[in-house]
Amino acid sequence: MDLCVIGTGYVGLVTGACFAEMGNEVWCVDVDAAKIEGLKAGKLPIYEPGLDEIVVRNYREGRLRFTTDLGEAMAECDVLFIAVGTPPLEDGSADLQHVLTVARDIGRRLTRYSVIVDKSTVPVGTAERVRRAIQAELDARGVSIPFDVVSNPEFLKEGAAVEDFMRPDRIIVGTDSEAARERMAELYAPFNRSHQRVIHMGVRDAEMTKYAANAMLATKISFMNEIAALCERYGVDVENVRLGIGSDQRIGYHFIYPGCGYGGSCFPKDVKALIAMAQAAGVEPEVLTAVEERNAKQKRVLEEKIVARFGEDLTGRTFGVWGLAFKPGTDDMREAPSIPLIEGLLGRGAKVLAYDPVAMDNARSVFPSAWFEQDRLAFTRHQYDALEGADAMVLVTEWKPFRHPDFAAIKRLLKTPLIFDGRNQYDPQQLERLGIAYVGIGRANALAERGAVAA
Ligand code: UDX
Repeated sequence: MDLCVIGTGYVGLVTGACFAEMGNEVWCVDVDAAKIEGLKAGKLPIYEPGLDEIVVRNYREGRLRFTTDLGEAMAECDVLFIAVGTPPLEDGSADLQHVLTVARDIGRRLTRYSVIVDKSTVPVGTAERVRRAIQAELDARGVSIPFDVVSNPEFLKEGAAVEDFMRPDRIIVGTDSEAARERMAELYAPFNRSHQRVIHMGVRDAEMTKYAANAMLATKISFMNEIAALCERYGVDVENVRLGIGSDQRIGYHFIYPGCGYGGSCFPKDVKALIAMAQAAGVEPEVLTAVEERNAKQKRVLEEKIVARFGEDLTGRTFGVWGLAFKPGTDDMREAPSIPLIEGLLGRGAKVLAYDPVAMDNARSVFPSAWFEQDRLAFTRHQYDALEGADAMVLVTEWKPFRHPDFAAIKRLLKTPLIFDGRNQYDPQQLERLGIAYVGIGRANALAERGAVAA
């Protein structure tokens, strides 16, 4: 099929490249000329495992093409994906200006029946707004061209986006049109593998499904983080509780890892957007608000633990931070828990040495340049360099090279052998045997830090 994907950000580029990989002819369109030129030269704007290879190969083989000219792309395509950004507005609701601009651009150029697909995460009712925006342009042109708008939300995890696209758990297709439904079913047929993965539903149902999925996952995490806080106070190891409850199939092992808070481009934004949708509809978002508030608190939990150990004033202290990206496998710094942690530590007078395998370039622009110039914050060349002379090590992102580190080296490098483990990666007993003090999230030994509630 001939497809057009508008927006070559994270979602658009993965969508375009993966459809091309499946044998489709794909045009990727973006208003950013530098980005398009970069892509033609094989330079990807994001880091995503496996993506470079399929972008470069499909471009070379001619199935994937890049342009800034929507008209050029639309001349050949009748399925058009809208995959532009929907950043949060001040009130938490999604900003639809880019989506609606693209809709109007499409309306100005439409020449034959086309299926317009919303890939971006957009509030319920957006497909209808897209439809009206296109129709208004057709009316202004005085032409009558049939078209359908479909909601087909993405469920791509950063770091595994290509795999998620190629081997999806489900493909949600929301449309009330039989013709659009058939086109989408045909397009996604190769992704069905062992059984039918496409779930057809109404447009609004599909739009809500995306938000509900992310909000449910965020809820699992915030729930577990709250249980972890309780575990600390009652002398319980949350890791045992996690295993104990995860074995119940109704709960499952996924997304119940306590930690220093969820980040990324989706969960924080989507939970906020769903809260805004609830408020706009007069529904009190009690659960969602609690999920959001718990996460905001959770992002401060490592700083609190550090303060509990070293006191409010951290002047003269140095902390070695492992991991800056919001999760492993990505260079994405959006809403990363490392940001409030580093800001908090520096705000209390401490110095921070940090290392991340891929996110340091992006992270550099997140923090004020003065901090680097004044040597208050430095990024190191190697993970162990970040620990040299530090008062403690703080694990924020569980990258693979951090999972089984050389503890003897850690002990040797740190001024005091102490690890704050924001992702519960290490075994407290093992570290105790090695003579390294350990503070995790919701681990029984955090008792010493806070004082347990008596039985
Ligand atoms: C998420 C959804 O998984 C994906 O389906 C959607 O399309 C986009 O949003 P992503 O943002 O890439 O994907 O990250 P994900 O792997 O889901 O992790 C989100 C955050 O939750 C990370 O900060 C991670 O560290 C945290 N997390 C995850 C936990 O703290 N505990 C867990 O058990 C799982």
